[in-house]
Amino acid sequence: MLVERYEKIFMNISGLFLLAAVVALVISVTGNHASLPEPAGRLDPDDVRTTAPFDEPGVVQTGDDEYRVVYVAQAWRWEPAEVTVPAGAEITFTVTSTDVIHGFFIPETQANAMVIPGQVTEFTITFDEPGVHSLICHEYCGIGHQDMGGRITVEAASGD
Ligand code: CUA
Repeated sequence: MLVERYEKIFMNISGLFLLAAVVALVISVTGNHASLPEPAGRLDPDDVRTTAPFDEPGVVQTGDDEYRVVYVAQAWRWEPAEVTVPAGAEITFTVTSTDVIHGFFIPETQANAMVIPGQVTEFTITFDEPGVHSLICHEYCGIGHQDMGGRITVEAASGD
């Protein structure tokens, strides 16, 4: 097949752009400790309140520098409404809903997931710096949607 010289050059440039985009994507995901939210199980929304770990929402230390934060979403609040976690630790969020679809979003972080009744959603992030973050529901869930907020306080790790 005969390919014009200029056509060949443009094809190569296009290929390089594609390659650069893939490299940028890999770096942005691996460099930010990002993990895609993944389904971590199923349960009947009616059983959320009586099924571990959702019968006791809150923060649990699971290892050196590893914590699990269990949340229950229910129109129109997060349970717990406020949590405190250390900076620099691996924080795994385990979230489900008792009623409708909610959205779990902590602005300026990698935390962005759907919270679906019947599904357990899990993802892990690290807060690098101490500070206070808002937890926002970013999926319209009814008349009280805009009031569905929470607070996550990130404390300096002990020893800092
Ligand atoms: Cu919950 Cu919007």
